[in-house]
Amino acid sequence: MSKGREQWGTKLGVILAVAGSAVGLGNFLRFPTQAALGGGGAFMIPYLVSFLLLGIPLMWVEWSLGRTGGEYGHGTAPAILYRITGSRFIKYFASIGIIIPLLILFYYAFIESWSLAYAFFSVSGALTEAAGKNELADFLRGYQGVVSNQYFDSMWLAYGFFVVTIIVNFYFIYKGVSSGIEKLSRIAMPILVVIAILLVGRILTLGTPDPLKPDQSVVNALNFVWTPDFSVLFESRVWLSAAGQIFFTLSLGMGVIMTYASYLKKSDDIALSGLTASATNEFCEVILGGSLVIPAAFIFFGQIQTVQIAQSGSFNIGFVTMPNIFANMPGGPFFACLWFILLFIAGITSSVSMIQPAVAFLEDEFGFSRKKTVLIMFALTFLACQPVIFFMKYGFLDELDFWGGTVFLTIFATLEIVVFGWIYGIDKGWKDLNEGAEIKIPSIFRFIIKYISPLFLFILLGTWTYQMFIPTIMMKGVPEENRPYIWGARIFILAIIGVMMYLIKITTEKRPEVSK
Ligand code: ALA
Repeated sequence: MSKGREQWGTKLGVILAVAGSAVGLGNFLRFPTQAALGGGGAFMIPYLVSFLLLGIPLMWVEWSLGRTGGEYGHGTAPAILYRITGSRFIKYFASIGIIIPLLILFYYAFIESWSLAYAFFSVSGALTEAAGKNELADFLRGYQGVVSNQYFDSMWLAYGFFVVTIIVNFYFIYKGVSSGIEKLSRIAMPILVVIAILLVGRILTLGTPDPLKPDQSVVNALNFVWTPDFSVLFESRVWLSAAGQIFFTLSLGMGVIMTYASYLKKSDDIALSGLTASATNEFCEVILGGSLVIPAAFIFFGQIQTVQIAQSGSFNIGFVTMPNIFANMPGGPFFACLWFILLFIAGITSSVSMIQPAVAFLEDEFGFSRKKTVLIMFALTFLACQPVIFFMKYGFLDELDFWGGTVFLTIFATLEIVVFGWIYGIDKGWKDLNEGAEIKIPSIFRFIIKYISPLFLFILLGTWTYQMFIPTIMMKGVPEENRPYIWGARIFILAIIGVMMYLIKITTEKRPEVSK
């Protein structure tokens, strides 16, 4: 371990920090939406296959690359991958390992701030006053600044909650890896699990609230979530969304797990810890996340409407459907408040992990102090979030999510697995992975990491490019008035890539020893 770099305090702490990064809004909003759109239980098959063939292997690869990088004093992908491959091309290409978490952060922090606001509205009574599906939808649109209405005539409140949210995030970053992020995760994660279990308990004891609709029962709701329909296995769309969900939910292909792992010691176990963190995420996603919004929507609105609600997007599920459901049950405001606190906790333990790679980059490669780094990153994040907040209604947020939260993740994951299995070499990689291991990793995973995961990723990328690249670039289906903003979002992404490339060039000159 290079001198002066931070380290995690305890083994449990690092597992909870990685699990905290993984368990996020994706578990409670994105997963149920994707599952409902992928045909309920049918979605689980591609999802579980992706977990085994992509999720677990990549989790180990990121932990291993990160721990090795930390040995050399590097915590981010460009320097780590350059160090182990000596390839300048890979070094620049790997800049997306710092860019992706930032792109996600710029919209994620805003959504996280809605949860904080809505927790407040649950207890202030504002949500109760807006009870009713249409009213709650108007309430959300007013809050987001999409329209001005009787609930909100300006965005100041939303803006205020956003500012509080990013200040809280940067407070934990400023406190550091062990005293900030680790401490936050140690306290927040158990609270998150307890709240989620309470909410699941409430939903699963609802019985059949409407005696006139006996089909809308808890048992049928769970059947809808869990019964597999093998016919969807031939639809590439379902495979793409299942694999995309695995990356997003496990925070893989983002660069964040690599950065977290760089604060490990060489002798620290990664095999069991990586597996434990992944399993914790899957418990929170499939068992807890899968038993909340979809069963609740099914019980109250029936199967057809549940699918329609999912089609209207995960924000609607979280911020319109759920408060609407809570409004119809005893103790509604209390459970609504718990739901939004759950989202906020899930969000913050993930968003801090998205800030850390850029922080590690400035600290490790430029030698900046924590204070200076935090000030720079706070200012940049604050500025970069402005177009997301103010142009959200024109699709700016969705465009960042599409590139940062979907396409780039898959590309970066492919780069990582190819570097690990083929360029660095599976022999060395496997040895690194097993160093300090507290379990024996089945050797089938050596084969999976080298052949199956890259093949799977190339097929996904190829299918996506073939089916969606041209329509996406040409903005098929995008309303005319949104197009300038979508171009704006793309230029914004390109500008960030340009700046990052330039910074990487400077760091190589500054620290020529990063070469092999
Ligand atoms: N892994 C985080 C989530 O699921 C980003 O929200």
